[in-house]
Amino acid sequence: MKTRIVIIGGGPSGLLLSQLLHRRGIDSIVLERKTKDYVLSRIRAGVLERGIVKLMEEAGCADRLHAEGIPHDGTLVSYGDEMFRVDFTELTGTPVMVYGQTEVTRDLYEAREKAGGRIDFEVEDVQIHGADSDAPYVTYTVGGEAQRIDCDFIAGCDGFHGVSRQTIPLSVRTEYEKVYPFGWLGILSETPPVSEELIYANSSRGFALCSMRNPQLSRYYIQCSLSDSVNDWTDDAFWQELKRRIPSDVADKLVTGPSIEKSIAPLRSFVTEPMRWGRLFLCGDAAHIVPPTGAKGLNTAASDVHYLHEGLCQFYETGSNEGIDRYSEKALSRVWKAERFSWWFSSLLHRYPDQSPFDLKMQIAELEFLRSNKAAQKAMAENYVGLPY
Ligand code: PHB
Repeated sequence: MKTRIVIIGGGPSGLLLSQLLHRRGIDSIVLERKTKDYVLSRIRAGVLERGIVKLMEEAGCADRLHAEGIPHDGTLVSYGDEMFRVDFTELTGTPVMVYGQTEVTRDLYEAREKAGGRIDFEVEDVQIHGADSDAPYVTYTVGGEAQRIDCDFIAGCDGFHGVSRQTIPLSVRTEYEKVYPFGWLGILSETPPVSEELIYANSSRGFALCSMRNPQLSRYYIQCSLSDSVNDWTDDAFWQELKRRIPSDVADKLVTGPSIEKSIAPLRSFVTEPMRWGRLFLCGDAAHIVPPTGAKGLNTAASDVHYLHEGLCQFYETGSNEGIDRYSEKALSRVWKAERFSWWFSSLLHRYPDQSPFDLKMQIAELEFLRSNKAAQKAMAENYVGLPY
């Protein structure tokens, strides 16, 4: 088989890249290790920057997003019983869009299927060959049968544990990592959200987040210990703990109900450099991870897809290598800013096991500075709604 771009990974980055390329007449094949149902069962964050909304429009996949997504003009931040609001639209001119990553992925699958795009599911033993040569190819097995695809380029959109990053020799790869000493326990429940806008809560018992998917579906998180397991937390225990971490007047309004999903996610900051090796380009979680505070994961993957798509179109349409040669530098420049914001926002809101009384005072001082200072709010808002591509 032959195609122009082999895209490893059928999550949102791989699908978005494939669909954008298709709209410019560039063919690709997507390889996914799991089934489509599995990919669509993964619950991820639900806040979209304007950049990814524009890319979804360019991909011809934004109808449902515009019909069902909820624009948010700001967010609430609480500490103890205090709460304040940061107005994104007033400070930056831009709202964000609340729309689940799972729905983005569903819309992209639908578009790829409609266009007759090829996606091989349940592929095994994916191997990248000759990425540093002029004739790269990918081998894998599917349904027990060995396959080979020759291509011009390979996009590694296969996440943190994927084969793409591992293919880059250690001698040319540098990895930067910070592992946080806690996790997030999240639940999804068919209850109306407690607040019209998200609430990011700093409390003496740890971080909490009140989020949503739609007017009848809420998403809540609490900071938990890394040794906790989902089975340690009954729904009742979760709701009790959440109520203790948000302002009491908000807690009084909270509508609780059975969880329809419950999971624990560890928190990690991670970047690998460079994001390109020969004809292999890394996108999204394959190259970088952010802690979920600020919902930058999918949004940062989308900016990678933007730079790579631009570089590939330039290559095929004008013959210039400039865009692909500068891909890693351009993507990383934005990635590090998203890393900084996610790290800062996490540090502002969580309880760390080794925090001293001085550190706690610094958190409160920083929250009060943010509450009272428009310049600080503007800096936060610009990062939250998404830095320009
Ligand atoms: C979510 O709704 O799942 C969500 C929202 C905002 C975040 C993280 C997660 O910062």
